Amino acid sequence: MLILSRRNFLGSAAFAQSGERKVRVGFIGVGSRGTSLLRGVLALGGTEVPAICDINEAHLKRAQDLVEKTGAKRPQGYAAGPEDFLKLVARDDLDAVINAGPWEWHTPMSVATMKAGKYAATEVPAAMTIEECWELVDVSEKTGMPCMILENVCYFRNVLAVLAMIRQGLLGSLSHCEGGYQHDVRGALLWRDPARGTPGEISWRGLHMAGKNGNLYPTHPIGPIGWWLDINRGDRFTKLVSMSSLSQGLNDYAATKWGADHHNAKRVYNQGDVNVSLIRTERGRTVTLYFDTISPRPYDLILRVQGTRGIYSGTLDKIYVEGRSPKREDWEPFAPYQKEFDHPLWKTFGPEAMKQGHGGADFMELYQFIKAVRNKTQTPIDVYDTAAWSAVLPLSIRSVERGSDPLEFPDFTRGKWRTRKPVDPGDV
Ligand SMILES: NC(=O)c1ccc[n+]([C@@H]2O[C@H](COP(=O)([O-])OP(=O)(O)OC[C@H]3O[C@@H](n4cnc5c(N)ncnc54)[C@H](O)[C@@H]3O)[C@@H](O)[C@H]2O)c1
Repeated sequence: MLILSRRNFLGSAAFAQSGERKVRVGFIGVGSRGTSLLRGVLALGGTEVPAICDINEAHLKRAQDLVEKTGAKRPQGYAAGPEDFLKLVARDDLDAVINAGPWEWHTPMSVATMKAGKYAATEVPAAMTIEECWELVDVSEKTGMPCMILENVCYFRNVLAVLAMIRQGLLGSLSHCEGGYQHDVRGALLWRDPARGTPGEISWRGLHMAGKNGNLYPTHPIGPIGWWLDINRGDRFTKLVSMSSLSQGLNDYAATKWGADHHNAKRVYNQGDVNVSLIRTERGRTVTLYFDTISPRPYDLILRVQGTRGIYSGTLDKIYVEGRSPKREDWEPFAPYQKEFDHPLWKTFGPEAMKQGHGGADFMELYQFIKAVRNKTQTPIDVYDTAAWSAVLPLSIRSVERGSDPLEFPDFTRGKWRTRKPVDPGDV
């Protein structure tokens, strides 16, 4: 039973239960995202942060200060090189470790965490290669420690309402989903903000775009779609094919901002401006996934789902349900459906959650992760989801490299998808 009473300095306290031992969480990587997650974990209440690791001493200090300001003991800092996190995960006063460093560090950090007997939570994507996806699965199975990708879009209010509608059969039998990470982040690929890096210089994220070509950020859309389609729980991804457009956006951006002679205006970027992948599932459903972080455009995750009785469109924020929508073949607003099918988590924590990032979804995912750690249960997003959603990244790269060949999707559950129960996003 939760007691929603004590408030800490951030104005929230979902876990402020009296008498229970606090959940002890370590952090690795406290840049922009890690700091926001740290604030979220502190805001839940009932948690403590004994240790933090970041190779950037200013970031580490900022995070330590943040914890100290809550009245808690200053966390021990680890900043002695890129593998100093190994010392943090080995501590015996941690129950869980959250990592939010650059992409290539997510698997090594999660694997070390699980091997040290702690719950692992990792930022997105969890892995960069198929071998890393398998390593996460193998280590989680061997150690019995969960590994949850922090896919906050799964906890968006509309995503959970649509999940409830699907479960109640409103959209009929599903045939197709469409999703995308379409977000203009050029300013984080080539720094625009002097506070984050020298303007015009390439970031770690930009270097991935220079060297790779595929869908490099698939999990925001494929996470919720995976839940809607019961992936790893009654169905599974079987095939993927991917195609990228030409690459011109980052050169054009750099030339416009810093001049045609700037070295990053002349750099070769492998990443095509728009990547499209198609995925097929065992039960014959299809998914179209877009990846575009280079083009000037409004943010849009698409999140469209089609069934035999209706369709929902996240972009339009509209729905059409045959036999229920008032006008034939005419969209109706989603708002009344949102109200009718709102998830209990949102009904309970909505106003509290909305004080945190991504419209409150960050609160929901952290709440579910910490609850699982506290209760020593499996995390709602488990290692099979973590691996399957992240696997789109390496598979799409390989498909593009091979002239858009269709590739087999590994079954990370090793057949267990046939009998695993549909996901339970968690309750209050
Ligand atoms: N889920 C979301 O909505 C969301 C939003 C933003 C970012 N992210 C993800 O969060 C992660 C971090 O992104 P960011 O924008 O905060 O990047 P960032 O560059 O601001 O922060 C990364 C931090 O990791 C530290 N770091 C790098 N290597 C390290 C190592 N070996 N050991 C310890 N610390 C190390 C850096 O010093 C930096 O402080 C990325 O994976 C990104 O994709 C997710």
